[in-house]
Amino acid sequence: MSQPCVNIGMVGHVDHGKTTLVSALSGVWTDTHSEEMKRGISIRLGYADTTFRKCPNCPEPQCYTVSDRCEGCGEPSEELRTVSFVDAPGHETLMATMLSGAAIMDGAILVIAANEPCPQPQTKEHLMAINIIGIKNLVIVQNKIDLVSREQLIEHYHQIKKFVKGTVAENAPIVPISAQQNTNIDALIQAMEEMIPTPVHKQDKPAHMLIARSFDINKPGTAIANISGGVIGGTLTEGVLHPGDELEICPGIKIESEGTTRWKPVRTKITRIVAGKENVKEATPGGLLAVGTSLDPTLTKSDSLTGQVAGIPGTLPPTHESFALDLQLLDRVVGVTDEEKIGPIKTSEPLMLNVGTATTVGTVTSARKDIAEVKLKRPVCAEIGSTVAISRRVGSRWRLIGVGVIKG
Ligand code: GTP
Repeated sequence: MSQPCVNIGMVGHVDHGKTTLVSALSGVWTDTHSEEMKRGISIRLGYADTTFRKCPNCPEPQCYTVSDRCEGCGEPSEELRTVSFVDAPGHETLMATMLSGAAIMDGAILVIAANEPCPQPQTKEHLMAINIIGIKNLVIVQNKIDLVSREQLIEHYHQIKKFVKGTVAENAPIVPISAQQNTNIDALIQAMEEMIPTPVHKQDKPAHMLIARSFDINKPGTAIANISGGVIGGTLTEGVLHPGDELEICPGIKIESEGTTRWKPVRTKITRIVAGKENVKEATPGGLLAVGTSLDPTLTKSDSLTGQVAGIPGTLPPTHESFALDLQLLDRVVGVTDEEKIGPIKTSEPLMLNVGTATTVGTVTSARKDIAEVKLKRPVCAEIGSTVAISRRVGSRWRLIGVGVIKG
């Protein structure tokens, strides 16, 4: 498998079939955490790679496949490109995880189950999030078509058309599929090929990697001599990385001493890089990577470095303990049945902020109509001018209320 060159997100309401669709396209079931299997929902970001291929003989869309041989004529298929899927959770309590996944998506598939009226609350909230984060390359999937009649499917299609009118998804193709029965997957691959191009990344810049997951890959009881260093997973937004390169991770680790807290960047060395299921000598921007390091694995276990940025020492963006944001708030809270109006941001109110793959909570120290200053509980490493998704507590949940841009 070649190195993945683009990240495609799976977004949409809980149980609409995102994980099943990733599995139909890649053969990987991304819900592997025991709690995910018990509850039947995605909790963490899942990911899987697959190679899109095309039969040189058969007509569109039947020529598109993920198999080495064409399912129609049996001839060998030709490789188009390898893509990484980022499988976001659809449950309303997991919006922070969805938003951190959205930060690394180059394009997205909005999965909408045809056997429920459209839109469901997180269908709406995820589309809003995608819009706010600036993802423009979209494909809509009308899933579970095996459960509805032709008439219901057409009626549901019109509901989708009405729902996306005036949004970033207005002109996105709508592909009817059954992820579970593998129906129309070829047409979906064609739509992804046409709508989600491989982004052009700057490889001549210093490497910056957004960390989406981090792991301790050692089995309990592993002898000390055989212990592997900590692993970080994520995507390179620019630059290239090689095994042997020095790496700096910011903001790093929290150090508490004599009543004060500070964050210290971590330095380590890359031991290996896995992309597209293979060890690579050079990782390029685009798809998802797993980077082995010489870090103590207790520093990386259970996603403890999620939200941090890794790169060549001395080249990373600044770490902010507070910042001012230029605000753009939505009119109404989406993702709930009762969509109340969004009032202005107030001094002292807590906000949940998603910056890149980082999720942090901030307290507003000063607020005017279009600008808020926020002090962060957990610092974030981000360029001036970065987009921040802003959520506010409404009832017992964080709800997306708008977007901010970090001011210089
Ligand atoms: P979260 O990640 O928790 O938001 O859920 P999800 O969107 O990933 O849904 P998942 O893939 O876990 O599917 C939910 C249920 O729908 C499972 O029982 C699937 O077997 C079922 N399902 C998914 N796709 C189809 C389909 O095309 N047809 C039918 N009949 N069932 C489907």
